[in-house]
Amino acid sequence: MRRRSVLAGAVGTAAVAAWGGGTAEAVTGDGAGRLLGAGGLLGADGLLGADGRPDWGAVRAQFRLDPDWVHLATFYLASQPRAVREAVAHLARQLDADPMLLPTHLTLPDGPTGWDRVRQSLAGYLGGEPEHLALAASTTIGLGLVYNGVITRPGQEFLLSDDDHDVHRGAARLAAEKHGARLRLVPSWFADSAQATADEVVSAIRAQLRPTTRVLGVTWVQSRTGVRMPVTRIAEVVAEANRGRKDTDRCLLVVDGVHGLAAVDADAARLGADAVVAGTHKWLLGPRGTGVVWLAPWATEQVRPTFASFIASEGTPALSPGGFLAFEHAFALPVSVAFQQALGRSRVAARITELSTRAKRGLARIPGVTVHTPTAPGMSAGITCFSVRDHRGSDVVTMAAERKVRLSSLYRDSLGYARIGTGIMNSPQDVDAALRVVRDIARG
Ligand SMILES: Cc1ncc(COP(=O)(O)O)c(C=O)c1O
Repeated sequence: MRRRSVLAGAVGTAAVAAWGGGTAEAVTGDGAGRLLGAGGLLGADGLLGADGRPDWGAVRAQFRLDPDWVHLATFYLASQPRAVREAVAHLARQLDADPMLLPTHLTLPDGPTGWDRVRQSLAGYLGGEPEHLALAASTTIGLGLVYNGVITRPGQEFLLSDDDHDVHRGAARLAAEKHGARLRLVPSWFADSAQATADEVVSAIRAQLRPTTRVLGVTWVQSRTGVRMPVTRIAEVVAEANRGRKDTDRCLLVVDGVHGLAAVDADAARLGADAVVAGTHKWLLGPRGTGVVWLAPWATEQVRPTFASFIASEGTPALSPGGFLAFEHAFALPVSVAFQQALGRSRVAARITELSTRAKRGLARIPGVTVHTPTAPGMSAGITCFSVRDHRGSDVVTMAAERKVRLSSLYRDSLGYARIGTGIMNSPQDVDAALRVVRDIARG
């Protein structure tokens, strides 16, 4: 804990302090406190009220979201808070002025930024170590790196469910085809998503694991159903199955963590998984085109790089694809992490839960509406899936948009649920506005 808060402090203080126009302050003390200190730093002062709790109105003011709309789909792709936009612009200015500042001379106002710093700040947030992180431009690319890289023998299988996202199943399918492995899909890990329990999920998975299962892929928070998978319990089942297996036969638990990271108050690196992959441009509110791959220390040996890396030549960091990338985005990530840490991960998660619970309760009271996400906060997070009798999810999204309410649905999904995503930029009034619109749609 201590180590993490020092890291957070370093980034928070430094990255945000110096934009106030002053010189960079020494990297000491409590990051969140300094972040919010005097000087109107990046507009971040005032994020916490006198009681030390986030002022959600001030948080909302950080975003350039169109005020004419109610935005309940921001988990799709982040609208960046002001602090992050400023960081990106600051780095872009340097690159435009002199591209030869690469690779080591780009700075946030407090000092150098680069891959090491990015990995250090993310490691602090994930509860892991920088040497166990690789960086990728999205969840999709991170999943591709993991599945493509896993050392696999013909006859081994990747086991996923139809509820996992297209890009997750796609990464597994492409890698399986290449390596002579097999992709086995079960329809779902539960009979009815709204009633899903951890016991049900765990026993369904236990029944499906085989000696040839090389990867079990799950989604921390499913975008198709809103179900939060009990990853720690699943990891126990996988550990049981792995007892006595050689490393090359071990089943790796690969987690698509994108809708859990910064929506759930848990250390992603301590869930018990072997790999956690997440875009940082959704709930973490990071610069677009950024993401992270965490591997358990033992798993590094089991995953080979797909691309030449500019970051490292060995270990997990060497999985990070090289080439010249959107450096102004990637190297601004420490500011997103600092922003989240200033608010506090548990407070952020609690706010997201409070709003999604309001959405679920409200939807459940509307005749003709069915909620497909569990009510229990332990089995859900910030995505609430629902359907309206006689309407496809995408039609509900279109009709809501006519009333300037942004909802979302899964593209090309036969289930076709509509979704309300509640983030820290949202208010109870936003949720209520969506509920009114859904009620009108259901009335016909
Ligand atoms: C569960 C899940 N995984 C992966 C992705 C793809 O994420 P990215 O855009 O970071 O590749 C999405 C897209 O929203 C998703 O919902």
